[in-house]
Amino acid sequence: MFERLQKKWNVSGFKLILIIAIFAIGGSLTGYSGRKLMSFWEIDRGIGWVVLYILLITIIWPLAVLLVSIPLGQFSFFKNYIQRIGKRMLGKSKVKSGKSNTGDSSFMAQIAIFASGAGSNAQKIIDHFRNHSSIKVALIICNKPGAGVLSIAERENIPALLIEKEKFFRGDSYVPELKEKNIDFIVLAGFLWKIPPALIKAYTGKIINIHPALLPKYGGKGMYGHFVHEAVIASGDKESGITIHYVDEVYDHGKIIFQDKCAVLSTDTAESLAQKIHELEHKNFPVVIETLLTR
Ligand code: GRF
Repeated sequence: MFERLQKKWNVSGFKLILIIAIFAIGGSLTGYSGRKLMSFWEIDRGIGWVVLYILLITIIWPLAVLLVSIPLGQFSFFKNYIQRIGKRMLGKSKVKSGKSNTGDSSFMAQIAIFASGAGSNAQKIIDHFRNHSSIKVALIICNKPGAGVLSIAERENIPALLIEKEKFFRGDSYVPELKEKNIDFIVLAGFLWKIPPALIKAYTGKIINIHPALLPKYGGKGMYGHFVHEAVIASGDKESGITIHYVDEVYDHGKIIFQDKCAVLSTDTAESLAQKIHELEHKNFPVVIETLLTR
């Protein structure tokens, strides 16, 4: 059971002990203060007492656990936890945990990263969410045997799936595998295959991509990697940048979420520009993902 919780919340064993202790102390504090207040108000035992007591502990409990979490250094975990309960109660959760669909009350948003290259962005995303209280990189999907991102997955102990063209484009597009792993959100980080309609339909508004230029310029089929940077330099543009956007059925076309720019100098080559772009990507991509999943 403890192992399951540890996985579910993506926390270390020590952190799990602290969290359980906070639940226990916060719960006892709630019960104690609830009963004290009820006897202070001298309310007669009966149905009214029960209703009022439940209301009271519903209000006291979050305050109690938050208070106890401060000295134990777990405030951000509990703030997030309580926010998610609140959103769920109000039915406002933007990206629901896949497990919630099956009745389990996991609070983790599970990400699948699709990548076919070196995976430097995947690595930054994994680093960013390593001990996150509500977001977890749960799967790496790759279409290229031997790609760097597969070694990253192995080193980081993240399940990886090497996918086949036929099944991806003319089969079920791996939707059952993604659902089975409770994937809530898909991040394309250097994935060159077009996303098939079945996958877009299953994850509408939940697939994002990063493109190494300022879309709508320099996008579309064949515009990837050094081809993009060579085109930017050849055009004489004085700036380039990155675009993070939702994925639809057209290459590099979905609604833009975020852009950041860098200067293109007359001395720049495709390689030096690629380096500047990678820096922008590494700095911004994990933060944008976090914002989308926690707002
Ligand atoms: C990035 O430049 C990204 O914009 C593009 O593919 C590249 C992937 O790089 N879609 P890496 O494999 O993350 O290093």
